[in-house]
Amino acid sequence: MKKKENSFIDLPSPRKDVADLTPYSAPLEGRRKLLRLDFNENTIGPSPLVIKSLREISREEISIYPEYSGLKEKVVETLIKQNSKVNINSSEVGIFNGVDAAINAIFHAYGDFNDLMLTTSPTFGYYTPCAKMRGMRINSIPYEGKDFKYPFDNICELISQNHPKILLICNPNNPTGTRLSPERIIEITQLSSKTLVVVDELYEAFTGDSVLPFVNFQKIPNLIVLRSLSKTAGLASLRIGFAIGNSKVINIVNRVTGPYDVNSFAVIAAFEALKDQSYIDSYVNEVLEARNWIKNTFKKYNVKHHIDGGNYFLLWPKSNPQQVEQKLKSSGILIRNMDKKTNLKGSIRVSIGTIEQMKRFWSTFKIVDEV
Ligand SMILES: Cc1ncc(COP(=O)(O)O)c(C=O)c1O
Repeated sequence: MKKKENSFIDLPSPRKDVADLTPYSAPLEGRRKLLRLDFNENTIGPSPLVIKSLREISREEISIYPEYSGLKEKVVETLIKQNSKVNINSSEVGIFNGVDAAINAIFHAYGDFNDLMLTTSPTFGYYTPCAKMRGMRINSIPYEGKDFKYPFDNICELISQNHPKILLICNPNNPTGTRLSPERIIEITQLSSKTLVVVDELYEAFTGDSVLPFVNFQKIPNLIVLRSLSKTAGLASLRIGFAIGNSKVINIVNRVTGPYDVNSFAVIAAFEALKDQSYIDSYVNEVLEARNWIKNTFKKYNVKHHIDGGNYFLLWPKSNPQQVEQKLKSSGILIRNMDKKTNLKGSIRVSIGTIEQMKRFWSTFKIVDEV
């Protein structure tokens, strides 16, 4: 058959929900060598044990598919060591290619067309696209007042009335740092057995208020807790995270992932990172000290800010946030502009690293914003 010149290329059509999605475009390129205070990562890197184990990876290890045995048990052991009240077993742990993949898998497994996803606003940006991909309805309730209080009463009412399929709680919340007590989370789980309550605890190390010590997943099967080795352990590039919940629920969520989605490098590094908890603890302590230092500095100079849970804070510069972002970048410091987020007009989000890094940030910011 003669090919028509300039013929219209008729592509297979994607699902409508996917066609309507805006691609997630995190500004992730060209960040090496800069002071990265934009993604709440560990700013000094992982434990030396992690580096050593990765350097020693053999050719054989690279050429075979990953093996996961013992990792779930190690996660359980670590969590129990951190808090003896934690009462979980390895069948209640799922291993994912980062918590991002766990979130996506939860939505894939539970979120049906027209189901409701309830969450708060502003919050971590990946929940909404995961819901949209499945054609779910989304209800995002704003944090309350100038302290960004969790809209507890409103959320409870909506659960009791609408029984959403998924409730996403980011605790502490990124970017407002809002904290919700374990008791309140348990209260929420009791409102509807039809609602899967997903608690994203990516930054719990900085607050210590995990719900895990308060849960028996056999009695509270509609709760999933997410943990990652990206932030405190410094393994963000390797992509490894965990979902912890009732074994039946974890089994369901695991059905929608590929058999080898988590790679061997991540598994090897995870074992070493979990072994070296003291390294993680000392990094967390350093961040908490740096948080106090910067908080006191803001008070002294009367800078409008909001610091609560997490290794990050919000700051309202006097000048335009976009310009501040650009000027800081020219000085080698990356931050996130939050100007367009609900209730965060005029703000930037800055990750907290070491005291030295915060001092560098502050001395540059002072010049940029003429403090
Ligand atoms: C609240 C929250 N959840 C999940 C993630 C993704 O974590 P991971 O690197 O384990 O995919 C992030 C990353 O910034 C986050 O801030």
